[in-house]
Amino acid sequence: MTAALLAWYDRHARIMPWRTGPADRAAGLRPDPYRVWLSEVMLQQTTVAAVRKYHERFTALWPTVADLAAAPDADVMAEWAGLGYYARARNLLKCARAVVAEHGGRFPDTHDALIALPGIGPYTAAAVAAIAFDRPETVVDGNVERVMSRLFDVKTPLPAAKPELTAHAARLTSHARPDDHAQAVMDLGATICTPKSPACGICPLRAPCLARQRGTEAQRPVKAAKKPK
Ligand code: ADE
Repeated sequence: MTAALLAWYDRHARIMPWRTGPADRAAGLRPDPYRVWLSEVMLQQTTVAAVRKYHERFTALWPTVADLAAAPDADVMAEWAGLGYYARARNLLKCARAVVAEHGGRFPDTHDALIALPGIGPYTAAAVAAIAFDRPETVVDGNVERVMSRLFDVKTPLPAAKPELTAHAARLTSHARPDDHAQAVMDLGATICTPKSPACGICPLRAPCLARQRGTEAQRPVKAAKKPK
């Protein structure tokens, strides 16, 4: 499954300002950890389409984490306007300043060191370790949960299903290309394995997908019934 997914990603990866393209990747060029981290913080609760121009603006104003760390709080908050969740912007600055103060302006390259930074939780630590540093970390967001719930036809309702879905995602994680794998699962969830009307006909994982075989894809993931009011 991992090979089919990576082959699909090689042809269909979405172009994003913080990603390297296929030619860069072929030449062994790594993405800039600062740009990856910034994208992951911005993408929490905000869509890729909305984040794109904010990311371009931030990296034009502050090309390195040291530039961002040195920026006045008010300037950063003003540029963040529209993204919402202002606690994220305050944590962004705290984190940038800690990277400068504690790591000489270079992002640490392990999950454990990343998660020790302010504002970096398990998701962001895994995403930056995988995408920027090619560590075999399992990155699980809502997209990944949906893809796993369908591939393995998981009947347990969310959120109780999270450990099971994470275990499936961990088993599939590519050790050869963890960076591309993490983004491939997210892109598959965003573009093909969508919440409504998934495009199973063109999915690279349609053959092994258990929900597809059983016709249950529209019922996956199962969500816990809402409590009566
Ligand atoms: N959502 C959050 N991070 C992402 C990424 N790196 N690629 C695609 N979707 C994402």
